[in-house]
Amino acid sequence: MARKIAILGGTGAEGSGLAYRLAKAGEYIMIGSRERARAQETARQLRERIGGTVQIDGTDNASAAGACDVAVLTVPFSGVVALLKELKTVWKPGTVVIDTTVPLAATVGGAGTRMLGVWQGSAAQQTRELLPASVSLAATFQNLGAESLAGDAPIDCDVLVCSDDENAKQVASELVSKIPGARPLNGGKLENARIVESLTALLIGLNMRYKVHGAGIRFTGLALK
Ligand SMILES: NC(=O)c1ccc[n+]([C@@H]2O[C@H](COP(=O)([O-])OP(=O)(O)OC[C@H]3O[C@@H](n4cnc5c(N)ncnc54)[C@H](OP(=O)(O)O)[C@@H]3O)[C@@H](O)[C@H]2O)c1
Repeated sequence: MARKIAILGGTGAEGSGLAYRLAKAGEYIMIGSRERARAQETARQLRERIGGTVQIDGTDNASAAGACDVAVLTVPFSGVVALLKELKTVWKPGTVVIDTTVPLAATVGGAGTRMLGVWQGSAAQQTRELLPASVSLAATFQNLGAESLAGDAPIDCDVLVCSDDENAKQVASELVSKIPGARPLNGGKLENARIVESLTALLIGLNMRYKVHGAGIRFTGLALK
């Protein structure tokens, strides 16, 4: 049976972009929302856009989290704590959670080019604290903008994957590599998510200064194809 990927907050820009790319690559996607009807509508639109036998359903965040094998967290940083507390008892043991969250000051009305301080060190480390031990976590996609994901062009970006769990890192890297042009890179431990998250604020500033929408990162000198 195909693995199920829940995209929590998948009605938004980043989540629906990831849903689009991953469903197009053949993954079974469940859009999650605080409102089941909103998730169903996003799922309908994505099915219509992609066509064929694509598998995308929509439901509430708790149902999606409880039924999935992999969950991608795509809600604003300001909503993460309340959502993860609500989901604490619904996860199946062995679920892999992938955190895309960036603690931008914009999430509390500040600038998109500044970061909030997070006591744990990063949004991803905060997420780790709020998940049961039976659920593993990788942090990735923080530097991949929603506008690029929404289109069909290959994405000219390296995508860093940070985790303390090898399986979660592998699952997250595999999802990155399903997006044409995106190259997953082993970003090391989850604590490095702090660096990766802050690069997003820098990329937002580059987008503004160079009047573009898809500034991204490429690392050189690595012996990779
Ligand atoms: N946008 C980007 O280019 C980008 C790039 C990299 C990473 N990210 C990260 O991806 C996440 C989502 O970004 P986004 O731009 O897609 O955000 P968004 O559109 O503002 O929100 C995504 C979805 O989250 C849900 N949501 C909003 N407030 C919530 C709350 N307080 N509690 C629970 N759910 C809430 C909403 O869905 P429902 O109303 O349907 O529940 C909304 O459609 C953020 O953490 C961001 O840092 C974004």
